Formats: sequence, C-alpha cells, structure tokens
Amino acid sequence: MNDMLLESPAGWKDYELIDSGGFEKLERFGKYIMSRPEPKALWDKSLSKKQWADMAHTEFTAGAGFGKSGKEDSGIWHMLKKMPGQWNISYGSGRADSPEFNLRLGLTSFKHVGVFPEQAPNWDYIYRQTKRVARSLKGDAPRPPKVLNLFAYTGAASLAAKCAGADTTHLDSVRQVVTWAKENMQSSGLDNIRWIIEDALKFVRREAKRGNRYDGLILDPPAYGHGPDGEKWKLDECLFDLLSACSSIVEPENSFVVLNLYSNGYSALLGKTVMESAFGLKKNPRARMEFGELYLEDRAGRALPLSVFVRMER
Ligand SMILES: C[S@@+](CC[C@H](N)C(=O)[O-])C[C@H]1O[C@@H](n2cnc3c(N)ncnc32)[C@H](O)[C@@H]1O
Repeated sequence: MNDMLLESPAGWKDYELIDSGGFEKLERFGKYIMSRPEPKALWDKSLSKKQWADMAHTEFTAGAGFGKSGKEDSGIWHMLKKMPGQWNISYGSGRADSPEFNLRLGLTSFKHVGVFPEQAPNWDYIYRQTKRVARSLKGDAPRPPKVLNLFAYTGAASLAAKCAGADTTHLDSVRQVVTWAKENMQSSGLDNIRWIIEDALKFVRREAKRGNRYDGLILDPPAYGHGPDGEKWKLDECLFDLLSACSSIVEPENSFVVLNLYSNGYSALLGKTVMESAFGLKKNPRARMEFGELYLEDRAGRALPLSVFVRMER
C-alpha cells in the first residue's frame, strides 16, 4: 500500500496561518488578518489574547446554534480595525509548475471568506495534471483537455485548470457563488469557463447518458447540500453513487481525478477505497493513486489538518 502524503501550501505570499488554538485560528489573507472559529484547533494558542486582538482586523463570533445542527449556522464579524468588506488576493507558489490567479474575498455570514487555503496543493496538482494530459493530446487533431469541477464554489480549482489551458466546466448549485467564481475568472485575466448551476449528481448522470467525457474531474463535496431544485445531497448516502456515475464520464486513458473530503471525519484511506471501488481501479494496473491529508501550519510549526484527498491519474 502506498504511503500517505501530508501536504500544505508553500510559497504563497498572500496567505498565512499565524496562530491556532482555543478552537480558533488567526489568518492573514493579503493585507487583512482575521480570527475565526476552528473546531479542530484543540490546543492552546501560542500568542496571547492581546496579541490576537492587536493583529486582527476582524473577528467572527458564532451565533447561538453554531455547529450544533451538523450544518452551519451564521454569526457576526466584529470589526476591530478598518478593512473593506471585499478585497483581492493572488494565488501563486513562485514555482513554474503552479498556477497564478486572483481571488476576490469577502466576509460571509458563515465564517467563510471565499477560499479554502489548504486546497493549494490540489490546485498545483490540477495544473500539473492538466498540462500532462494536454501534452498527451498533442497529436494530429490536438484539443485542450476537458476538465469538470463539481461543487466548485468560488472556483479556485476551476481557475487552476483554466490556467493550464483546460476547456473548463464549473458546476455549483448556488447561483451567487457561481457569479462570484465568474468575477474571479475575470479578475485573473481568464475567460471561457462554462458555468453550470445544477445538482452535481443529476448533471453527471445526464452527461453519462449523453456519452460526454472529461479528461479531468475535480470534486469537493460537502456533508450536506442541495441542488437548485431542492435535490438532497448527503455525503454518506450519495458519494458512492456519484463516483460510480463519474466513472463513466472520465476518459479511461490520459485522465485524472481529484476527490477532496473535509467532513464526516472521513479518512484518506476511506476516500481511496471508495474511489477504487467506484472506478474499478483494482482491475486497472495503469492507474496511479495518491492520497493523504491537507493541512495548514501556524508560525509555531503546528499542523492543523483540514481535509483529505485522493488523486488518481492514468
Ligand atoms: C465547501 S464548497 C467546496 C469548496 C471548493 N471546492 C473550493 O475549494 O473552493 C461545497 C460547494 O458545494 C455546493 N453544493 C452543495 N450541494 C450541491 C449539489 N447538490 N450540487 C452541486 N453543488 C452543491 C455548495 O454550493 C458549495 O459551493
């Protein structure tokens, strides 16, 4: 069995996890610093309460029911210093084999700001894989790789694929986040992403029926969600069905899949087994898999694990 990988963002000037602890994290996104709840920060902070308050521009306080329902409840951002409600940051690792794009951030009522920074190693992987597939498609009738991003939110992974030249399809069930992703594409100087507001499972089943195929597939499904017509998404009940449907829309050769999981306490090994089963990979000795955890490291060197990933290339 392969070894587990542990990966975190490297060389990204516009993001830093400054400190963590006491069920909170203190982060810098570009010029602005914020303190947010972080249920996994079980240890003590390394900086004092005063140091956090001196540094932070804003602090998120959860509403009474926050986190209890298994879903997210809203809360309030308390402004400690002057900062805009929306601002821009850039992604770049400084390495040649990594994408560069811009993201507009904003303070949402669910403690999120529009990007999940621990995902940066996935963006780098998507960029490298899209380039690899593009090289293999250079023949008599060259075409760009087709990449589908499901549960795509504000689009960082879509931008990573687009930066590498993919014909990119971005799907999310929420119109507002798709509009947000469009703004990110435009401010990154990119164009021509195909936007779809749909239920992920419904769309993939339809694509399978139509015989449409993709060279790259990215999915980051939440624990619970809804399609635009109220279709219910429940990770534990739907993940295997979705991956099984996905297996027939991914090209059998020269393709890649990235599955990210951040809820239900799912392990990377569980993700690997479910992907292998849904894609019938045990029977395909040419498929190469890697799996592991994505984490952020604070200034004191403590690793805060935030999600697990499974990647397959063939
Ligand atoms: C946490 S986000 C994924 C993060 C994203 N991959 C990133 O790193 O930027 C989960 C997304 O799934 C979307 N979603 C939830 N249920 C859905 C469904 N049934 N079909 C499509 N998208 C759904 C939500 O609107 C949300 O944007």
